[in-house]
Amino acid sequence: MQVTGYVKALEKVDFSISERETIGIVGESGCGKSTLGKTLVKIHEPTAGSIIYFDPNGKSYDITNGLTKEVRSTFRKDVQMIFQNPYDSLDPRMTIRDTILEPIQTHKLFKNLKDQDRYVRELLSKVGLDPDYGKRYPHEFSGGQRQRIAIARSISVNPRLLICDEPTSALDVSVQSQIINLLKQIQREHNMAFIFISHNLDVVYHMSDRILVMYLGNIVESAPSRAIFDNPTHPYTQALMSAIPNWNPRERKLGTVKLEGEPPSPINPPTGCPFHPRCEFRMDICARAKPEPTEISSGHFCACHLRDLTIDSSRSAG
Ligand SMILES: Nc1ncnc2c1ncn2[C@@H]1O[C@H](COP(=O)(O)OP(=O)(O)OP(=O)(O)O)[C@@H](O)[C@H]1O
Ligand SMILES: [Mg+2]
Repeated sequence: MQVTGYVKALEKVDFSISERETIGIVGESGCGKSTLGKTLVKIHEPTAGSIIYFDPNGKSYDITNGLTKEVRSTFRKDVQMIFQNPYDSLDPRMTIRDTILEPIQTHKLFKNLKDQDRYVRELLSKVGLDPDYGKRYPHEFSGGQRQRIAIARSISVNPRLLICDEPTSALDVSVQSQIINLLKQIQREHNMAFIFISHNLDVVYHMSDRILVMYLGNIVESAPSRAIFDNPTHPYTQALMSAIPNWNPRERKLGTVKLEGEPPSPINPPTGCPFHPRCEFRMDICARAKPEPTEISSGHFCACHLRDLTIDSSRSAG
């Protein structure tokens, strides 16, 4: 294979997730959301940085460069992912029963065949499907039903963290909210942590405790969901908010920000702030230096020179 260039899909991404927390990740197509999810479940290896995993006993493991034998099975059970496209993520040659059982068998959760059958039926009804569907194959199901099967499979091993990568973006609008509601219900019942990835800030807001806003592989703003909604600070977040039909900026004494054009290519990213070529507030410094995340209120971080300047001037005034 000939290499024609390198894509730095993720650059400044720094966050942690606790038990039962939901973190929403939002950003336009190509900003690196799936790459981040796949890096966390160890489908992709990071070339820099580190990933630390805490097992159920609180023991920490550096899993950046792979999973050692000691931690592999706990990690593989604890962290599950639902993918963007339910048409690709299920093996067409496997029955639904075998699809759902695969992780259970890998982790040797049930030895007895009768127990396995009972559990598959239980999981199918939990995700709103007929328990008899176990005998069938993926091609017999609609996108929404396939995503329900993928959810049953992923929760079969009782993970502590479920990464949902745009679980509804390939589905008809009419079934999207059903899948979101199913995920919410499952989270309540199982007390899992979620990383919920979407390009739709409105959906992420309703799911998450905290939101990370990504642009071209960087987290440009992160905050508790309410703070993102009430006080979106990065011009990119403001533009995403302005696109939500029922968001009322006047009530929050904020202006609307338009987002024009497409994000630049990650093969040849802009210098300085990754957002500056599209930013209507850009200053000279934005093309020269990359802004560092600054804490603007408790737990609310924003990487924007505009914020740095405001904070600096208020400091010197005080
Ligand atoms: N296998 C690959 N080879 C080359 N570039 C890739 C590969 N996978 C992803 N990329 C690039 O990495 C960047 C991030 O891609 P990623 O799929 O993570 O984005 P995303 O935010 O999930 O987008 P979407 O909303 O469309 O799913 C994109 O520019 C994409 O083109
Ligand atoms: Mg994606």
